[in-house]
Amino acid sequence: MFSFSDQNDFCGRRCVWVNGPVIVGAGPSGLAVSACLKEQGIPFVVIERSDCIASLWQKRTYDRLKLHLPKKFCQLPKLAFPEEYPEYPTKKQFIAYLENYAQKFDIKPQFNECVQSAKYDEACHLWRVITVSTNGSTQSETEYICQMLVVASGENAEGVVPEIDGLKDFSGEVIHAKDYKSGEKYTGKKVLVVGCGNSGMELSLDLSNHNAKPSMVVRSSVHVLPREIMGKSTFDLAMMLMKWLPLWLVDKILLVLTWFILGDTQKYGIQRPSLGPLTLKNHHGKTPVLDIGALERIRSGDINVVGGIKRFNHTSVELVNGETLDIDSVLLATGYCSNVPYWLQETEFFAKNGFPKTPFPNGWKGKCGLYASGFTRRGLAGASADAIKISQDIAKVWKKELNHKKQKVPTHRRCISTF
Ligand SMILES: Cc1cc2nc3c(=O)[nH]c(=O)nc-3n(C[C@H](O)[C@H](O)[C@H](O)COP(=O)(O)OP(=O)(O)OC[C@H]3O[C@@H](n4cnc5c(N)ncnc54)[C@H](O)[C@@H]3O)c2cc1C
Ligand SMILES: NC(=O)c1ccc[n+]([C@@H]2O[C@H](COP(=O)([O-])OP(=O)(O)OC[C@H]3O[C@@H](n4cnc5c(N)ncnc54)[C@H](OP(=O)(O)O)[C@@H]3O)[C@@H](O)[C@H]2O)c1
Repeated sequence: MFSFSDQNDFCGRRCVWVNGPVIVGAGPSGLAVSACLKEQGIPFVVIERSDCIASLWQKRTYDRLKLHLPKKFCQLPKLAFPEEYPEYPTKKQFIAYLENYAQKFDIKPQFNECVQSAKYDEACHLWRVITVSTNGSTQSETEYICQMLVVASGENAEGVVPEIDGLKDFSGEVIHAKDYKSGEKYTGKKVLVVGCGNSGMELSLDLSNHNAKPSMVVRSSVHVLPREIMGKSTFDLAMMLMKWLPLWLVDKILLVLTWFILGDTQKYGIQRPSLGPLTLKNHHGKTPVLDIGALERIRSGDINVVGGIKRFNHTSVELVNGETLDIDSVLLATGYCSNVPYWLQETEFFAKNGFPKTPFPNGWKGKCGLYASGFTRRGLAGASADAIKISQDIAKVWKKELNHKKQKVPTHRRCISTF
């Protein structure tokens, strides 16, 4: 299917020529691009640093996680969720759907191979992608050479661990949200949850469900919206309203409805940003929190909301308002970042933050066969839209080249026959 010429170069590195694109990452974005290419008969290679598909979902998320948008917004191209799935599938169901997706489209990533660098070689007009694969204690390098590169390594590739004064001296456990599974082992413990995005809110709720004592740090402001309004998903409602009304008006409507349902969140120490939820998401990429019960626990006092952190001590934390809290553990729900700047040697299309410089909806295609899938800050719906555009574009280039080659073949044959 794809022509693989396997050779070792003088450094002992395996060299592989790939017909078609190399796709970095076998998460939902990489799988979606792969499925769309497969349908058009275009060969590709998917490289995945982990030992499974969708490693974010399989290895770096907590047990109680569910999709927080209705399933119709989360399915990948060409395969709907099973009908019996609930409106908000669980993490387990989503992973099962993705496993089935990879099987249906016969997607077989190169597992345990991490892309270390990718660079466009101007001299030969090709991408050179270097990976390191780990097999037990042995490591080996491979260089893939290809005409097209699809970056699908994710907006959430690495956990962000902020530098906070004294954190290194804190004697209790400190983990990032990506390593949290359940509140079971925290029963009776005083846990500081740093961050109040969807992760911070849900980890606090989970801790409270397990009779731990969570304090959640809210250092600035955040929009908390109900997940549903009058039985309809808030996201769905917003999408519908946006078809007819300007963004600022949809924001106003959402905030009024939210006020009726959740009341005034400022009363509980959660300030609202001055920009509306959709405007803030569009301009600054900050995701609103879709509440699934944490606010009720904040109201009841089971989750304690605190302000910003000044510094950590051996067994406590000092807050900017001068208060000191004794704590047993710290959970850093401080967000995620892209890892593209660490391995992609390109600065025209990708910015320093690892996202395409061109804003949505045009940030999927760079120059020289470079593509970005899943960097729209629009979750799974954004990943699907990217995959369709990218695969169509690649198909156009692919078919053009194929025709070009076909036109050349008869000439070649003519030459041979004259001998
Ligand atoms: C806790 C959490 C919950 C979420 N819930 C939702 C939700 O409900 N709905 C929604 O729409 N979105 C949600 N998201 C957003 C989420 O990012 C997307 O759902 C989805 O996972 C994006 O898919 P992706 O393939 O772009 O990225 P990822 O899922 O992150 O996949 C990228 C893959 O690339 C691999 N990779 C990274 N770097 C390299 C490298 N250098 N070499 C080789 N492989 C590499 C990774 O191992 C990973 O498998 C959530 C995110 C988080 C963190
Ligand atoms: N399906 C689901 O239910 C679900 C669950 C979890 C996450 N997600 C998704 O996953 C993505 C990431 O969400 P996330 O909540 O992990 O990250 P996030 O939205 O980026 O939130 C990070 C939080 O950490 C805070 N923070 C960062 N550094 C801090 C510091 N030094 N001190 C105090 N606070 C600090 C931020 O505060 P500031 O705002 O002040 O910077 C913010 O509140 C989002 O797209 C989200 O929707 C979905």
